[in-house]
Amino acid sequence: MSDQEGEPRGHIPVLAHEVCELMPAKPGGVVIDVTVGLGGHAALFAELIGPTGTLIGLDVDPENLALAKQRLADVAPRVELIQANFADLASVLEQVGIDRADIVLADLGVNSAHLDQPERGFSFRHDGPLDMRMNPKLATTAADLVNRLTEKELADLFFHNAQETKSRRIAKWICEQRKDARITTTGRLAEVVSRAVGVNPESRRAKIHPATRTFQALRMAVNDEIPCLDRLLAKVPDILTVGGRFGVIAFHSVEDRPVKLDFRQRKTDGIYRILTKKPIVASAEERDANPRARSAKLRVVERLPAE
Ligand SMILES: C[S@@+](CC[C@H](N)C(=O)[O-])C[C@H]1O[C@@H](n2cnc3c(N)ncnc32)[C@H](O)[C@@H]1O
Repeated sequence: MSDQEGEPRGHIPVLAHEVCELMPAKPGGVVIDVTVGLGGHAALFAELIGPTGTLIGLDVDPENLALAKQRLADVAPRVELIQANFADLASVLEQVGIDRADIVLADLGVNSAHLDQPERGFSFRHDGPLDMRMNPKLATTAADLVNRLTEKELADLFFHNAQETKSRRIAKWICEQRKDARITTTGRLAEVVSRAVGVNPESRRAKIHPATRTFQALRMAVNDEIPCLDRLLAKVPDILTVGGRFGVIAFHSVEDRPVKLDFRQRKTDGIYRILTKKPIVASAEERDANPRARSAKLRVVERLPAE
């Protein structure tokens, strides 16, 4: 499932137990949470590393970073929270004077704070402006893409970013509909896509909302998600200490695949030992308690010594 909507209010970090077990931060350790979000995983790591540890948190979204700041206000370690894209990890670390980490965690995608705010434009369940920028300073919104790209470009985007099998039909319908008026709201786009695929989102036939993949694909394009992930994957081996652990939590196959391939390649190159032959998924209990956990996949590697 690629839908992360439906998370209850109040933030629960996904796979918390599994993350702590496979990425056991030690007292005095250096932890980098490159997607600090609402600070859920970061707070757990803070307890493990204690007063002599260092916790670096990155997030592209200044609103989430402010929430993380509140949550981490009283923790013991040195904490540095920085508004930055994890693609720029190298320059961030230079800025804070850190060149090694024992633990790096990336928990990809959006979170409940994004989905709960209609004005951020991520949700097909609440009407709002068609925005989807995690970093509000980005120049291009989802509405820009929906109204500017050609039919072929839209179809390719829906197919490549979300494996939407009805990508051509959806793109064609969008281009028809936008001739009358620009598509500028999440509600209107959800309606156009539902009509294109001929599925009523309220019907029992619709296991997931028919616009789920279209929204995912647009969000990934607006935030340049896969190229940024590739840059992170390329940088982490340089900063992990020997024995250090790198974990990535992905929520759909398009973001899980580059992680899987990167880890495999670096295993072959003698850089990583893979600790999760198969990705770790949430227990039935966690999946019941937290809908977002249903699609989470955790992969973890350990840095090997240079030969
Ligand atoms: C799933 S949430 C993380 C939740 C967090 N682990 C917690 O426990 O609260 C993902 C966060 O990563 C941020 N994010 C997404 N892509 C990013 C990127 N390329 N660089 C930095 N932050 C990013 C989002 O703004 C969001 O706050």
